[in-house]
Amino acid sequence: VLLPEPRGPISSRLGAHLLEEQPLEDVDVASIRADVGRVVDPLTDEDVQLSLAVLHELHHRGFDDVDDAHEWDPPLVAVRVALERAVEEALRDETAPALAAVGTDAGTDTTLALRALVDRAQGPSLSAWMRNHAGVEHYRELLALRSVYHLREADPQTWAIPRLHGRAKSALLEIQCDEYGNGRPGRMHSELFARSMAALGLDPTYGAYWAKADATALSIITMMTTFGLNRRLRGASMGQLAAVEMTSSLPNGALAAGLRRLGLDGDATWFFDEHVEADAVHEQIAMVDLAQGLVAAEPELRDDVLFGAASYLALEDRFARRLIDRWTAEGRRTDAA
Ligand SMILES: [Fe+2]
Ligand SMILES: [Fe+2]
Repeated sequence: VLLPEPRGPISSRLGAHLLEEQPLEDVDVASIRADVGRVVDPLTDEDVQLSLAVLHELHHRGFDDVDDAHEWDPPLVAVRVALERAVEEALRDETAPALAAVGTDAGTDTTLALRALVDRAQGPSLSAWMRNHAGVEHYRELLALRSVYHLREADPQTWAIPRLHGRAKSALLEIQCDEYGNGRPGRMHSELFARSMAALGLDPTYGAYWAKADATALSIITMMTTFGLNRRLRGASMGQLAAVEMTSSLPNGALAAGLRRLGLDGDATWFFDEHVEADAVHEQIAMVDLAQGLVAAEPELRDDVLFGAASYLALEDRFARRLIDRWTAEGRRTDAA
């Protein structure tokens, strides 16, 4: 995978450093920080999201045209932290109303508060739209956009493992073992997703759709990795994972049903079918043993557990709205023509 094309001044400047055309100096870091501070919405800004995704990727699988030694370049770490803080601040603003509505007072049971957040976030259902209306082209677009996460499914949360202990750590490991296929080659969820992509005629190569993924798609993975890579945000990381598991089983069933309506089965649906069953179990582990277990061990993390869950729900809502709105508008144009 090669470094993706820049989308603005920040990613251009980072690219010049990573490709060793022009090293970042302290003054450049200061000016990038100032640029980040001027961004109106870091969650939808193409330059911010691509830059952060690229910097996070240095800690995951890297790029073929970038020297691995750049992972810990001090100026890059400084820029990464500035971008992460901007994203985190935007997420804190975005989620404040939802968190206020469910009540974050420490007396409320954590699982009940998580459930209330999920129930409250009933925006338009992307999976129901896919089940009822999607054509193969819509599925292709959705899978290409989702590939920036699902081809490395579970990796962003794995960063949290050494940061936990006791019951919460066991619960996280139990979930992650399933996500990574329990030692059975070819059964990692990321590999099942690649099969589904190939069955739909997409390129299942890791990183193949970086250029296609816009800020709304990238924001979900940069949020997850920001939570995972920062120890102080371990509560948010686990709350985010709990929200994923709590909102996965039924939607994946709907996504599989839509594919079958289009005559697709086997490799195309395996990933989705797998999640119907696995995540019905993961939901309980994530809510009770992981989220509640973590709060029992470290009560001061409670607000961040809920913040992480609310952040995931908010970004998924943005993602769903944007796709459904555009596809509905395109459908109207096609009908009119
Ligand atoms: Fe999974
Ligand atoms: Fe899961």
